[in-house]
Amino acid sequence: MPELSSTDAVLAELNGAVEAIVANAEEAGDIETLDSLESGAFGKAGPIASARKAIGEVPPHERKLLGLAVQESKTAVETAIASRRGALVDGERSRRLEAERMDLSEVVGEPRVGHIHPLTQAWEELEDTFIGMGFRIAEGPHVETDWHNFDALNIPKGHPARDAFDSLYVNNGDPGSTVLRTHTSPVQIRTMLEDDPPIYIVAPGRVFRRDTADATHLPVFHQIEGLVIDRTISLADLAGTIEEFTQAFFGKGFHSRLRPNYFPFTEPSAEFDIQRPDGSWLELGGCGVVHPHVLKAGGIDPEEWSGFAFGFGIDRFLTIKHGVDDLRDAFTNDVRFLEQF
Ligand code: PHE
Repeated sequence: MPELSSTDAVLAELNGAVEAIVANAEEAGDIETLDSLESGAFGKAGPIASARKAIGEVPPHERKLLGLAVQESKTAVETAIASRRGALVDGERSRRLEAERMDLSEVVGEPRVGHIHPLTQAWEELEDTFIGMGFRIAEGPHVETDWHNFDALNIPKGHPARDAFDSLYVNNGDPGSTVLRTHTSPVQIRTMLEDDPPIYIVAPGRVFRRDTADATHLPVFHQIEGLVIDRTISLADLAGTIEEFTQAFFGKGFHSRLRPNYFPFTEPSAEFDIQRPDGSWLELGGCGVVHPHVLKAGGIDPEEWSGFAFGFGIDRFLTIKHGVDDLRDAFTNDVRFLEQF
C-alpha cells in the first residue's frame, strides 16, 4: 500500500475537519455551543487526536510535515474558538451594561409639592397675630359636656339661647349631656378652671352645628375664641384690643366698631365689625365683658377679677380675603381650587 497517499488522506481529513470547526466556531451563537465545539475538536476521538495518532503510521520523512499540520490545526482551532469566545463575552457584557445603563442626563420633572390649606393659613396667621399681642394658645375638646358648652356659660337648660345653637348631641351618658361643641367658648371655662388669672388666651378650633350646608354655612366650621382675665378689665380694654387686632391682622387702613348685642355669657355684649379702607363694614364676631356667673363657674372671684371675651369665625376669612363665594369649595379637596391659594 503506497504510504504517501495515506499521509495525503490524513491531511485532507484533518483540514476538512478543522475548516468545519473554524466555520462553526465563527458562527457560534453562545458560549455553550463553543464549549461543545472545543471539546469535540480536542477530544480523544477528535480530528486532531486522530491525525496525531497517524503521525507514527506515515513514512518517516513525512512525519514532520504531518506533525506541523497537526500543530497548525490545533492553533487554528484554538484561535478561532478564543476569538469567538471573546466576542461573545464582550457582547454579553455590553448587553448587560446597556440594560443597566443609567442615563444621568435624563430630565426628571419636579416632584409635586403641596401647601397648607387656605383655612389653616388663616388659622396660623391669626395665632401669630395674637401671639404677637401677648396672648397664648389654648385648646379644648371637640366633644364637650353640656355643662361646659352651655350651663357654665350662663345658658341653663330651657334658656332660649340654647335653641339658637342647632346642636349635635353624642350618645354618651344621660341624653343631652354630651355635645359636639357648638362654639369655642367652653375653652374659656376650661382655661379658667385650669389656670390662675391673669389669663390672656386665644383658642382656635373646630365647632359643630346641625346646619344644612350652603354657600356660607357648613355643619363643621372654625372659630377663634379670645379670653382676657385681669384686674380692672373693662369694655374699653376690649374695644382697644379689637382695634389693635384689626390693624395688626388686616392692615393699617382697617378699623373696628362695636354694636350692642346679646350673649348670655357676656354683659354687656357686642357684635364687632371691621371697616375696610373703602368704607364698607363687615360683621366679624361677638364679644363682651365676661359675665360674673361665668367667672364663678370658672372658679374665679368676680369681686377680684374681671375680663372680656370675643369669638369669631375663621372660615369667613376665606370669603373676606380670597373672595371665595362658596365655602363648600374649600372642603371638597379639589386641587384645582386649592392650588389657587
Ligand atoms: N360664642 C359666640 C358664638 O359662637 C361668640 C362669642 C364669643 C360671643 C365670646 C361673645 C364672647 O356666637
